[in-house]
Amino acid sequence: MNLLIPAATGLEAVVKRQLNMLGYNDCPAVNGRLRVENCSWKDVARLNMFLRSGERVLIQLAQFPCTTFDELFDGVRGCNWADFVSQQGRVVVVTKAINSKLFAHHSIQSIGKKAIIENLSAVYGPMLELGEEYKVELDITNDVCSVNLDTTGDGLHKRGYRIKNYTAPLKETTASALIDLSVWNPDKMFTDLFCGSGTLPIEAALKALKIAPGLNRSFAFMDWPCVDDDAYDLAEQEALDIRVERQLNIIGGDINPKAIDIATYHAKRAGVDKYIKFNLRPAQEFITKQSFGVNISNPPYGERLSEINEVRQISKDMGVLYRKLDKWNFYFLSPNQDFERDFGRRADKKRFIYNAGIKCSYYTFNGPKPTK
Ligand SMILES: C[S@@+](CC[C@H](N)C(=O)[O-])C[C@H]1O[C@@H](n2cnc3c(N)ncnc32)[C@H](O)[C@@H]1O
Repeated sequence: MNLLIPAATGLEAVVKRQLNMLGYNDCPAVNGRLRVENCSWKDVARLNMFLRSGERVLIQLAQFPCTTFDELFDGVRGCNWADFVSQQGRVVVVTKAINSKLFAHHSIQSIGKKAIIENLSAVYGPMLELGEEYKVELDITNDVCSVNLDTTGDGLHKRGYRIKNYTAPLKETTASALIDLSVWNPDKMFTDLFCGSGTLPIEAALKALKIAPGLNRSFAFMDWPCVDDDAYDLAEQEALDIRVERQLNIIGGDINPKAIDIATYHAKRAGVDKYIKFNLRPAQEFITKQSFGVNISNPPYGERLSEINEVRQISKDMGVLYRKLDKWNFYFLSPNQDFERDFGRRADKKRFIYNAGIKCSYYTFNGPKPTK
């Protein structure tokens, strides 16, 4: 089987590195998706279990040129659907159409579904459609259709610990990628001085303790009769075996008491509450005796005009704090293109990353290079 791992714009290299670390080396990126070839169900289970920043794990069943509905129907009907879908299965078709002659989502969806059911009915007789769900993505990009079966279900960002609503939270997959893009390692202090619902400190703790992001949730493929019986169990056992116990110095701060309550609750659900201190405190008042450390935050964006001055003041204050903590590395994800001017320093690095559909910059302000 060939797998596709969608990655958010700007994070493809991070997901590729995570795949390499899991032992998958040749993973070319095409249209924002990493391709992993010659995989088994064990790989499907492992990637769902361990990928921290991929969006989901898709099986690519076919890929063909597609400019007419006839080509679409024949290409979809030509897949070996009965190798995957049982007679009880409920097939749900979702569509993507970019820069292609076929673009009417409703028509692509209904023709695709008809082709799948026709293929399956030829094998099983009438489909019962009462059992487990199979989500099929028909992705038509540049007149090429990719037929993809989603093994994940709820996106991989849904680790299961974040259940309370909070305004403008970071996706867990994005938070984890921001940590991967930083110089933080678990021997250093980690702070998020604008922690909101706690995503960044919790993801830092999960990573440091090598707790697999998929350990406390289920995946769509787990309901499918076609999957090897031991695939999930092996991935789960591997996840249980690699966990480590260690001390960590992780702090989350926020001025909103509701944020601190929610973050504490989420950390407990993630099983990392004893490794993180959450403080009700303005970021400007942060003090520490630690000479070295890393702060990663997505500070308030200030969508309303009335908030702009406050947000600019926060950027200025963070510049002042950075100059005080002169051996720390500071990272900020913000859509504010004037962030550096307000912060009072040019970023050492600036990457574009999309957060909740908003184009943001990930600003890196380095401390001094560690001495050898
Ligand atoms: C965009 S949210 C952060 C969301 C967070 N990353 C998450 O995943 O939930 C920004 C947070 O900054 C907090 N905040 C605003 N001004 C602050 C300040 N001066 N000091 C500390 N926190 C502040 C807000 O209460 C809000 O929770």
